[in-house]
Amino acid sequence: MNNVKIAGIGAYLPSLVVTNDRISELVETNDEWIVQRTGVSERRISEGENTSDIATKAAKIALERAGVDAKDLELIIVATISPDMFIPSAACLVQSNLDADKAACFDISVACSGFVYALEIAKGLMNSMNYKNALVVGAEVLSKVTDWTDRGTCILFGDGGGAAVLKQSETKGIIKSYLRADGKKGNALTIGGPDIDTPFSKEKILKDKYIKMNGREVFKFAVGAIEEAVNEVIKDTNISLEEIKYIVPHQANSRIIELAAAKLNLNIDKFYINLDKVANTSSATVPIALNEMYEKGLLKKGDKIILVAFGGGLTYGSTLLEW
Ligand SMILES: CC(C)(COP(=O)(O)OP(=O)(O)OC[C@H]1O[C@@H](n2cnc3c(N)ncnc32)[C@H](O)[C@@H]1OP(=O)(O)O)[C@@H](O)C(=O)NCCC(=O)NCCS
Repeated sequence: MNNVKIAGIGAYLPSLVVTNDRISELVETNDEWIVQRTGVSERRISEGENTSDIATKAAKIALERAGVDAKDLELIIVATISPDMFIPSAACLVQSNLDADKAACFDISVACSGFVYALEIAKGLMNSMNYKNALVVGAEVLSKVTDWTDRGTCILFGDGGGAAVLKQSETKGIIKSYLRADGKKGNALTIGGPDIDTPFSKEKILKDKYIKMNGREVFKFAVGAIEEAVNEVIKDTNISLEEIKYIVPHQANSRIIELAAAKLNLNIDKFYINLDKVANTSSATVPIALNEMYEKGLLKKGDKIILVAFGGGLTYGSTLLEW
């Protein structure tokens, strides 16, 4: 098995900042409630850019930092639950934007755990197909699937994208992943698909077009999922939690992260948190956070890091990597 590492990271956020006060003009809520219950103060919202536009902008930064020409990419995976359309995939749209003519392209639908899943899928394909370079993106325009009249959900989400260029490498890079799901709990967080209403359907089945969520159930699941995924990914690796420099969690709610940290008996400072300004961008939270850490100079060669995510599906997972 060849080693695969993140050789370049990038992110892009739409420029429009939507504060909690602005949201309180849309639904019955207020800044204090949102900050206290979630930790979110503001989020970026697209004024028309679609998922593939955001993904492409993040990808260009990651490619430049990795020193990789888009023409040398052999694989593009976009993790998203808000693609521009069913066909072509967001990955094919990104390929076209980048002129990455050699790449195999597909999207994966794993909700907020998408980036973590995509890293391991890319690593596997880079090994089985002997690809030298791959692009993994998490990108979302959740604002288009948000019910802006539902105060239980519209306060939580934002738009944005993050991208990583992966290369085969001498150093360890992605050491291990832990990927799981609990499909029986899927109803706790849904976005409906097209209606079933054809000349042949026995009855009309009309689907919700927007995010629907049982917040309390997702909250409970999330705390346990982080604890399990962090413990499992270091199991049998000879790496202890003390040796982990940072845990980069999915940025859904600061209370979820604080409770998980307490259960793991870890200082909250080990967790990188940026959700106050970015909110929950689903598959994009982890690469956006990694990009911020990179830009702040926090990531040093050899640092051991755990990425951990959970979300719709319900899915969850983690990646242990050496920077
Ligand atoms: C959504 C979430 C913030 C709600 O917080 P909560 O503490 O569970 O709040 P509840 O849903 O129990 O609601 C408590 C009260 O606040 C009210 N409320 C809900 N949203 C509100 C809002 N935006 N502003 C003001 N009040 C609100 C409720 O109506 C309820 O009022 P009631 O007691 O009079 O009925 C929280 O459950 C959560 O973050 N869950 C996880 C969601 C998540 O991370 N999803 C994405 C996963 S990838």
